[in-house]
Amino acid sequence: MLVSATEMLKKAKEGHYAVGHFNINNLEWTKAILQTAQELNSPVILGVSEGAGKYMTGFGTVASMVRAMDKDLGITVPVALHLDHGTYDGCYKCIKAGFTSIMFDGSHYAIEENLEKTKELVAVAHGMGMSIEAEVGAIGGEEDGVVGMGECADPAECKQIADLGVDMLAAGIGNIHGKYPANWAGLSFETLDAIQQKTGVMPLVLHGGTGIPEEMVKKAITLGVAKVNVNTECQLAFQEATRKYVEAGKDLEGKGFDPRKLLAPGVEAIKATVKAKMELFGSVGRA
Ligand code: 13P
Repeated sequence: MLVSATEMLKKAKEGHYAVGHFNINNLEWTKAILQTAQELNSPVILGVSEGAGKYMTGFGTVASMVRAMDKDLGITVPVALHLDHGTYDGCYKCIKAGFTSIMFDGSHYAIEENLEKTKELVAVAHGMGMSIEAEVGAIGGEEDGVVGMGECADPAECKQIADLGVDMLAAGIGNIHGKYPANWAGLSFETLDAIQQKTGVMPLVLHGGTGIPEEMVKKAITLGVAKVNVNTECQLAFQEATRKYVEAGKDLEGKGFDPRKLLAPGVEAIKATVKAKMELFGSVGRA
């Protein structure tokens, strides 16, 4: 059931658990995530980066595919179709395409411009019944060409953005997209705590979910994180399972070259990863 992320995140924040945001790349990814959410009776957010949207030929294709798949699979758990790290133009494209949620990442603008653009998009998104995520303080690492240095957000700026009425707020707390380097300092819980104190009931978003130690994720949830984004970990799981299949020569046996067979181990690996994350985040049975 396609919905905005507003209610599911409000419930998550109140219930002290988090909803998983899993990035999608194609039909297999989408199907694996939707089926796992349904099986576990968990709400879920499908994240689409601008690069992935382009890869899938456009946001219109993505929205049509997700809507049709949701219906054909008989999905009854709440599903939000969400633009990940959207540009100003990308947000408008997704609003038109029929997404149910957007993220406007204005973290690379000066705070005044971030506030101004976010305010405008909040009004437009809410007018369409959509939810909106904003960002303060860049997330580290590289994602689809967007490079952040992993700075910690200023809690006072977080409050300014929260006051615009966004539905969820991504604030840098030392988190990084992709694999964490060996010398990573860890999440700044001090910053997270200060942000939560300033922003109160606002559901906070933890980007860069791949590779954060489980105990840190759990602690972040106790400090107000209600959405955790995971991308790279599903890609690595898919890659490892596919590699094993090919290295074992399974694609050379019988009809092992059939794409439905070739991609099956990777799909199962994505499902297992999503399941483990939903269990860790505490969203199982919360639909
Ligand atoms: P990872 O690729 O590190 O899991 O980060 C995902 C993310 O934050 C998407 O916005």
